[in-house]
Amino acid sequence: MKKQQINTEFSVYTFSELPENYQQLLVKAKEQTANAYVPYSHFSVGAAVLLENGEIFAGNNQENAAYPSGLCAERVALFYANAQRPEIPVRALAIAAKTNGEFVENPISPCGACRQVMLETETRFAKPISLLLYGKNEIYVFDRVTDILPLSFTEASMKK
Ligand code: THU
Repeated sequence: MKKQQINTEFSVYTFSELPENYQQLLVKAKEQTANAYVPYSHFSVGAAVLLENGEIFAGNNQENAAYPSGLCAERVALFYANAQRPEIPVRALAIAAKTNGEFVENPISPCGACRQVMLETETRFAKPISLLLYGKNEIYVFDRVTDILPLSFTEASMKK
């Protein structure tokens, strides 16, 4: 028997330390929280996707009385981007969340299903997607989806 470790590295920024295009992306994600449909959780999440050509597609969480039928902000934004620009790689995804009318102090990190969908996009274009997770106190930046989804399952896992 041997033990192994998985390490994940990420950067912690203040808003003003971020490059301008990432600041803009976070502002979009924050703005999107205003349009979230969250009558059940009252937890508003916004997500904004930056494409390689500079375009931004954004979305928010959409809930449903049949709870599992709703969708997280990350998947709404990412599916929207991939639906509209199927040929253009995704460069970055920013996420912001509000609870009780206030942005969260520390970043939220995406659910497992959203991580898997992000991984599909990263794999599809074979280009790393940076993840920007917004908190009022600090912003986490991961350089690729695989950093938050180690030991992942992709198409390659089905080959021998
Ligand atoms: N949610 C997101 O939209 N993104 C996340 O990263 C975490 C959770 C949504 C799903 C649901 O509408 C609400 O937040 C509470 O879980």
